[in-house]
Amino acid sequence: MSPKKRGKIAVLISGRGSNFKALHDAIRTGKMNAEMALVFSNKEDAPGLGIARQRGLETLYLNPKLFTSREDYDKAVIHQIRKRDIDLICLAGYMRVLTPLFCQQFKHRIMNIHPALLPSFPGLHVQQKAIDWGVRFSGATVHFVSEEVDMGPIILQAVVPVLQDDTEETLAARILVEEHKIYPEAARLFFEGRLEIRGRKVFIR
Ligand code: GAR
Repeated sequence: MSPKKRGKIAVLISGRGSNFKALHDAIRTGKMNAEMALVFSNKEDAPGLGIARQRGLETLYLNPKLFTSREDYDKAVIHQIRKRDIDLICLAGYMRVLTPLFCQQFKHRIMNIHPALLPSFPGLHVQQKAIDWGVRFSGATVHFVSEEVDMGPIILQAVVPVLQDDTEETLAARILVEEHKIYPEAARLFFEGRLEIRGRKVFIR
């Protein structure tokens, strides 16, 4: 998108929302020229929704049980996003796999943060998987979302050491500190029009 326009961002969450907060903090402190137009959740009791409300942001919850299929649910979410003229969708601990329909509607305009160095350790419980493999380094990845889960073009990564006495919790906490740095940075690069996707690679201009 043009670097001059003030972009609109929607964040999709299912839980705590610390990455949503990091993104919003970057906007509040003027590090990113964007407006957070929607904080959406598939979980009514997601703590992140409460934080968003406290911050005066527009929030929305849609109950998946009221929809007959995953595609119908995603159609409703797409409608809400389109209504607000959103430029960038950030998945931040959104624990629902997007349907191909959703991915196609917003090609190269959906980002995700993942707590491992992709393509290693896609999926869930990846901090424990990194410990169990005995890798010396893990980290965080921000990538564009494609139909194949956790496999879209990589935008930014941060590396953290895996220590011998790490537990899932201690490693997750060390990775989270880096997540909160690279997610706002990736979104900022997007809104500055500096991300160019060629094939499966992202070039930063
Ligand atoms: C983060 O660690 C994020 O990387 C991870 O969920 C956590 C959400 O925390 N996402 C995934 O595992 C996606 N596959 P948050 O709600 O505090 O941002």
